[in-house]
Amino acid sequence: AKSLKTFQGIHFENCLDNGETAEQMNKWLLEVSWEVANKVGGIYTVIRSKVPITKKEYGNNYICLGPYNDSFVKTEVEVSESKIDAIRETVNEMKRYGVHVVTGNWLIEGFPQVVLFDIGSAAHRLDGWKGDFFEYAHIGIPYHDRESNDALIFGFCVFWFIGTFIEQVKKIKKSYVIAHFHEWLAGVGLVMARLRGYDCGLIFTTHATLLGRYLCAGSTDFYNRLSHFDLDKEAGDRQIYHRYCIERAAASCAHVFTTVSKITGIESEFLLNRKPDLLTPNGLNVQTFAALHEFQNLHAQNKEKLNAFVRGHFYGHYDFDLDKTLYFFIAGRYEFSNKGADMFIESLARLNHMLKSSGSDVTIVAFMIFPTPTNNFNIESLRGQSVAKMLRDTVQNIQSDIGKRLYEICLKGCLPKPEQILHPSDLIELKKCIYASQRSSLPPICTHNVCDDSTDPILGALRRCQLFNARYDRVKVIFHPEFLRSTSPLLPLDYEEFVRGCHLGVFPSYYEPWGYTPAECTVMGVPNISTNLSGFGCFMEEHVHEPQTYGIYVVDRRYKSPEESVHQLAQYMFDFSQLTRRQRIILRNRTERLSELLDWNTLGIYYYRARQMALQRTHPEFEEELVKLTNETFSAPSTPAVSRSSTPAPPDHYEGSDDEESDQDQPQSPHHHEEQNSFEKIQTPADIKPSSTADERYGPHLDRAD
Ligand code: UDP
Ligand code: G6P
Ligand code: GLC
Repeated sequence: AKSLKTFQGIHFENCLDNGETAEQMNKWLLEVSWEVANKVGGIYTVIRSKVPITKKEYGNNYICLGPYNDSFVKTEVEVSESKIDAIRETVNEMKRYGVHVVTGNWLIEGFPQVVLFDIGSAAHRLDGWKGDFFEYAHIGIPYHDRESNDALIFGFCVFWFIGTFIEQVKKIKKSYVIAHFHEWLAGVGLVMARLRGYDCGLIFTTHATLLGRYLCAGSTDFYNRLSHFDLDKEAGDRQIYHRYCIERAAASCAHVFTTVSKITGIESEFLLNRKPDLLTPNGLNVQTFAALHEFQNLHAQNKEKLNAFVRGHFYGHYDFDLDKTLYFFIAGRYEFSNKGADMFIESLARLNHMLKSSGSDVTIVAFMIFPTPTNNFNIESLRGQSVAKMLRDTVQNIQSDIGKRLYEICLKGCLPKPEQILHPSDLIELKKCIYASQRSSLPPICTHNVCDDSTDPILGALRRCQLFNARYDRVKVIFHPEFLRSTSPLLPLDYEEFVRGCHLGVFPSYYEPWGYTPAECTVMGVPNISTNLSGFGCFMEEHVHEPQTYGIYVVDRRYKSPEESVHQLAQYMFDFSQLTRRQRIILRNRTERLSELLDWNTLGIYYYRARQMALQRTHPEFEEELVKLTNETFSAPSTPAVSRSSTPAPPDHYEGSDDEESDQDQPQSPHHHEEQNSFEKIQTPADIKPSSTADERYGPHLDRAD
């Protein structure tokens, strides 16, 4: 087997394409998504983190196409005229027809070129384009669905761009253009490009299905009923029939169709009527530190910031030991049951009971980070931070005065008397602070005033489970209904710092095609809980032997009843709360060691294969190369998957520094046979035939195209 380094060599420079670079070959990759330079959820993370590895292969021939979002562009994009003639000419043509298109470079690692279409500037074409879309795809979009209207305008801008761009690039010499579309919101451009027979390899990756998301959010036994749904009716009932048609048409029209996990692959087969040609699991751009334990230091530093917040938030009730306090969290887009917030809260209530009845002195602070509309921070939360600050400032002033006094007295050759150290005025100042920190109410369970307070599902569940931050509760809860930002006056941390400061990420999702949040925890060395209904959870169970011993806990939500899953989750959290500090340090080291498995350097190969497959299906001369590629044995990542002890903790007698632990607990050989085989398992066979439904359904229009 080849090492990972060799894989990079194959990938980027010379194995295929006779050693020519993409630029020399006139080969282009257009990546199309609503989340290019526009953060919504995990797709933004896919594209952003994948840029460096993709640019290594495509260089300046890699272009991201997305919608123009003013506030993001101001902070994330360096706007400039493109230096590439084909892009400039294409954009100028669109501008001549009144469409505002912005080009430049996205200010992220890899600095990729972006082309962003201002949806509003093309809105006057909406009706015409709707007519065209109906004529070609037979899909009508209702006037009141703003999101679909935007998707249609975006799709037609992309379609226009690709058509003109292909004309431009092929003027120089034979060109190869691949356009990779993500999710239904980008689907219209793909459908039109295929129906008009553009000379372009079209890839569609779905990161979820619309119906899957909607059906799971209800109370359907989704996974057991997959084959029984009346899809048209279900989509119609939810008023998403037209969106579902766009999604299904995109999957059907693509030369290559991929999804992010096996579980979503199965879902797609039933709900989109096409089996993926390939799975493209999501990677991350793993940060490597010069010092082995830098990530442990980062944990300690960021935990201190969380400690500072907790001291303020629980003022007046701060009677627990921060050295025996653990920070758990759940975070994501606010899909209450899909993201498993319901199960998390229920299990926290049980954990609270377990800790109390076992007489544990451990306190758990559980954060819930889910954005929802609010009327800003609540007074009580802000007051807590200012009370803590007042006390801190007062203590600092007194401390500095005491220092000066001690110095003066000692200089005179005397030892200070107690009354000379702490003056009565100091005591008065301290008493004022202590009185100010008394409170008649419990520490708030939410940091903001939520607009729909009475109907909010998290607040409702916390009230039902009576998790109110009472003194005797061992589980305290804090709902932060806004994504984190380092400029926040309340909790000034960005998401990464927050994750690093926590002890355990808990993501008991019911619907989660991949789930970046636990993956991000893993590469930061933060143990986490996911489920066997999430792409990530299944992936780890498949590729890591006894994932639990690496701090990767996977709750069974597939074969167990909700009651059993809640029990399992509560037990995992309880067991984690019983680990000693040393055991937690060791577990973090192990978790972090799985990073390589989730690195784009490992997982980028699947995107590469999807592109080769698209080229082969549009340019027969690539066939030979593809055969070479699929016969190639690619290296497996060096997962430490094998033959580890089944206990998450070291033997009790083990003593030693973090460094000593890491020496003793080395990763396994990167070339372990079993691991390679198991890693290969995630490939879907390359010989699955492309779906012919596109040609059947849209045949007459394809004939008419051009
Ligand atoms: N995220 C964030 N700030 C937060 C919480 C989450 O930036 O406070 C990001 C997180 O880093 C992750 C993404 O949101 O990359 C969520 O992706 P995931 O795949 O878990 O779920 P999705 O929202 O796509 O369903
Ligand atoms: C890191 C630091 C240690 C610190 C520990 C706290 O490992 O390197 O110096 O003691 O974090 O761990 P805990 O799990 O108690 O937050
Ligand atoms: C979707 C899914 C999420 C996945 C992300 C990136 O939004 O909900 O599970 O991680 O896309 O693929």
